[in-house]
Amino acid sequence: MESKKVSESITVMNELVLPNDTNVFGNLMGGRLMYWMDIAAAMTASKHCNAPCMTASVDNISFKNPIKLGNVVHIEAKITRAFHTSMEIHLMVWGEDNLHQYRYESNEAYFTFVALDPNNKPRLVPAVLPETEQEKALYDGALRRRQLRLILSGKMKPNDANELKAFLNS
Ligand SMILES: CC(C)(COP(=O)(O)OP(=O)(O)OC[C@H]1O[C@@H](n2cnc3c(N)ncnc32)[C@H](O)[C@@H]1OP(=O)(O)O)[C@@H](O)C(=O)NCCC(=O)NCCS
Repeated sequence: MESKKVSESITVMNELVLPNDTNVFGNLMGGRLMYWMDIAAAMTASKHCNAPCMTASVDNISFKNPIKLGNVVHIEAKITRAFHTSMEIHLMVWGEDNLHQYRYESNEAYFTFVALDPNNKPRLVPAVLPETEQEKALYDGALRRRQLRLILSGKMKPNDANELKAFLNS
């Protein structure tokens, strides 16, 4: 299977925050944002492997700044690395105030997707070819993030996480 570039599957999604998307403080509801992030990440995963994909896990969503009613949610989803049947997707989210022309960072997260075959069983995916310095840094970190999330979900023994152990001891 041929490797694919990160740039081949980037997804950019924009959504306008309407009253029905907000919480009692008049800001975008976290759950609505996670829904949009899941869709953006799924589009990137599917585009990378040209197959339907399932969300396997989500980690490190921390809400830095609320996005206000009437502002635009700008989501960018990029694949960082593919393993065997799973892929890690990095998401960056900004709020954009188009009237006053500024943007602010809202949050950042990593989603893991698994590609499925016609019988809904995990199937192999193409490797990722990182090109830019940022893509290479995300690619390098992906292995230890994978080990950490597999340990936390009980699918890996801490003792087997060699790259994570080396990183923590460095
Ligand atoms: C995700 C899912 C397809 C994995 O299937 P599985 O039978 O556990 O398959 P495997 O154990 O062979 O794992 C397949 C891949 O998923 C990865 N994986 C499984 N659970 C994971 C988790 N919690 N976090 C990160 N990766 C995970 C494995 O590491 C493996 O990756 P690799 O092939 O690249 O090495 C299955 O658990 C599932 O269908 N879960 C429900 C998903 C869902 O409903 N999502 C929508 C949320 S509403």
